[in-house]
Amino acid sequence: MSQCQHQTIHQKDYKVPDYLVDTVELTFDLSPEDTRVLSRLAIRSNHDRSNGASPLVLDGEELTLVSLKLDGVEVKRDAYRVDDASLTLLAPPESFVLEVETRIKPKENSALSGLYASGPMLCTQCEAEGFRRITYFTDRPDVMAVYTVTLRADKASCPVLLANGNLVDRGDLPDGRHFAVWHDPFKKPSYLFAVVAGDLVHIADRFTTMSGRAVQLEIYVEERNKDKCEHALRSLMRAMRWDEEKFGREYDLDTYMVVAVDDFNMGAMENKGLNVFNSRYVLASPESATDDDYEAIEEVIGHEYFHNWTGNRITCRDWFQLSLKEGLTIFRDQEFSADMQSRPVKRIADVKSLRSAQFAEDAGPLAHPVRPESYVEINNFYSMTVYHKGGEVIRMLQTLLGREAFRAGMDLYFERHDGQAVRVDEFVQAMADAGKRDLSQFMLWYDQAGTPVLTVSDDYRPESGSYTLTVTQSCPSTPGQPEKKPFHIPLAMGLLDRDGNELPLQLAGEAAAAGTSRVLELRGETETFTFAGIKERPVPSLLRNFSAPVKLQYPYSDEDLNLLMTRDSDPFVRWEAGQVQAVKLIMGLTGEIQAGRQAQVPESFIESFRRLLADDSQDRAFLAETLTLPAESYLAEQMAVIDPDAIHQARELVRSTVGRRLWSELTAVRAACAPKAPYRPDDGLAGCRRLKNLCLAYLMAAGGQEAIDACMAQYRSADNMTDSLGALAQLTSCACPERDEALASFYDCWRGDRGVIDKWFTHQALSRLPDTMDRVLALLEHPDFDLRNPNRVRSLVGAFSQGNQVRFHDAGGRGYRFLADQILRLNAINPQIAARMLTPFSRWRRYDAHRQELMKKELERILAEPGLARDVYELAAKSL
Ligand code: TRP
Ligand code: ZN
Repeated sequence: MSQCQHQTIHQKDYKVPDYLVDTVELTFDLSPEDTRVLSRLAIRSNHDRSNGASPLVLDGEELTLVSLKLDGVEVKRDAYRVDDASLTLLAPPESFVLEVETRIKPKENSALSGLYASGPMLCTQCEAEGFRRITYFTDRPDVMAVYTVTLRADKASCPVLLANGNLVDRGDLPDGRHFAVWHDPFKKPSYLFAVVAGDLVHIADRFTTMSGRAVQLEIYVEERNKDKCEHALRSLMRAMRWDEEKFGREYDLDTYMVVAVDDFNMGAMENKGLNVFNSRYVLASPESATDDDYEAIEEVIGHEYFHNWTGNRITCRDWFQLSLKEGLTIFRDQEFSADMQSRPVKRIADVKSLRSAQFAEDAGPLAHPVRPESYVEINNFYSMTVYHKGGEVIRMLQTLLGREAFRAGMDLYFERHDGQAVRVDEFVQAMADAGKRDLSQFMLWYDQAGTPVLTVSDDYRPESGSYTLTVTQSCPSTPGQPEKKPFHIPLAMGLLDRDGNELPLQLAGEAAAAGTSRVLELRGETETFTFAGIKERPVPSLLRNFSAPVKLQYPYSDEDLNLLMTRDSDPFVRWEAGQVQAVKLIMGLTGEIQAGRQAQVPESFIESFRRLLADDSQDRAFLAETLTLPAESYLAEQMAVIDPDAIHQARELVRSTVGRRLWSELTAVRAACAPKAPYRPDDGLAGCRRLKNLCLAYLMAAGGQEAIDACMAQYRSADNMTDSLGALAQLTSCACPERDEALASFYDCWRGDRGVIDKWFTHQALSRLPDTMDRVLALLEHPDFDLRNPNRVRSLVGAFSQGNQVRFHDAGGRGYRFLADQILRLNAINPQIAARMLTPFSRWRRYDAHRQELMKKELERILAEPGLARDVYELAAKSL
């Protein structure tokens, strides 16, 4: 079976490399069909040779070996071995120069790892293990070297030749070819290597760093996209300034280049001095990009820039430490975005995505710690847990230490480990030393999987004025970890009196109160905290700013929640109080629907929405978040056995009731948000547009021609993509003639723009209408659909299976069959993308017996496929 083909790598088996590489000189003769790679490595032994030399094992995949020389002499055939994953020198000397010549075929590389072709260019993706698809190398992050790269290519088709670092030479060659030589003075692991060659144009600007050095910034794109780079360039400058101001980190090379590529497996890649980006996170114009697109570009540009210090200057010792760079950099990009926009709204968005995707991952068969202990395919561990839970772990450190000590810990980390490849332990140790804290228990956040549950109860004693909170933590078992030790958890909280005033918080034994918001530290399974001087039974405000990635249980009454929602000082708690109410309501209705009883939305819920709509003192984006019902995927998480149909019906019942009962209020708020001036992406009105489009969605849920007309009017008159798509998204879920009319006109208008056509596919895949499966199947045959382009796959297959719970989980099983079919086709094209598409199947145990059976059958069908890629095999096998 495939079991034995794919071996598991364990963290405990880590060994320091037997050989180190000091310098790498690469020469590429580039051509899409056949590229020649010459590699010249200065290698030195790193092990005890008293019992002889260890063999040198170089990784290599999909390479054709042409020649092999050691210190200038051809290596004899019996002195080395080659197989399809490695080249082994049996007994190399103490230190030597190895020259390897290989050939590769970029154009046939549909996995988009290594050197590949995308549109009019050749580009590389080396993280995590793509460098071995370019040349033989010790392809692991603890082997750091200085690279010099010579690129040679046809000058007419490949005028631009880029690599990491500084351009040191360039010139013409015979036969219409030319060359460029790049040198990167910083030692780096192979996963940060990059090359781009093609027919590209660029826009540029200069940035002066805090110490006064001038840095040349360049964004490279295809000619037709030249006018869509401005926002990315401005975002980059903001990110550079922000990292100087918030973390004292300055850029270190003379140039910073970003290249936009249409075919890309993930969001972007932080290669030293030469970031390669999925074009969706670079390109934006006011007509074609939504407010969300603008935000996402700023965030990803920031993320990759911040990696220069957290990832590149200090990198990971091994891939088990991935969260060392990713969790930390996610935290940094979240903080950057929070400073650029509205901090509370950003926090809410981050918590929503953590809860619906990461909590689900943590509760299923693919649950793994932030620092996994084993993997089959490392690409499968670029997960919500490693990235986003990892980001929460960093945030908890900041909460526990306070901002000042946290910053001191960051400084200490940079000071101690610059230029090194380290573990998570070194990072946490720097924090412990700077904060003078024992963080040994805190390390469990890295090594134990699962989402802890906090169960809180309280006791008020009027006679003594004391109020006691009792907090018990537990954590469900996860694969390989049946028992958990208690975590070290920061619980930020406050207390409100019945009028909503915040009470001074004085713990029993303390001389005086210390503010009205504080962080309680949980270490034991059960902890109690007694507050003194409390004159009436308070309402506890718990988990302020979502201070830990946990589930919280406290028996709030409706009045408690209303008080928190309207009066709490913490915006997250205010928002959360509304969400708790909405979850309670929708879960109640779901139960009624399942029992076949008449379900009805209570008056009090409508009234609270009415009050919210009338309150124009609130930030519009925050109000939009408050008025947005929990997603079906989040509601599903609350159910013992997920019933996607009942959840959908219940949530739709609330939406349509709100639409009907609050028609005039919604119409008024929508009118108040109507544009008064032509659109500009930075006009500060994104919140208004969000709220306006939400109101439109409720009106459409109410039904009727008037809403459809309003939608069509907005669609026709919109001068920006946010409004145009806001209307189109609603029309695609409406069984009316206007739907096809709008979809056809949208397609005609945007057929040349890949990013916008992705949206066109996505919204059809997300349609709530019962015919969506048929539509999706028809779209698979559309001339613009392309299984080789990851963005297109995500826009149709991903959107339908991960964003359309009710239609994907159709009890007939067509959605499941469709997804398995596409995964099997993708397996042969791009294993990384194929594996990403498996996520919905990993949740099969959460459904009823009938759906379980159907999903299991598809998983078994996938596993039975001969030649299953490691990526797909690992996730399918672990899911079953
Ligand atoms: N390190 C990249 C980031 O988080 C992401 C990344 C990892 C990636 N592997 C990749 C991007 C493969 C593209 C393809 O910023
Ligand atoms: Zn990253």
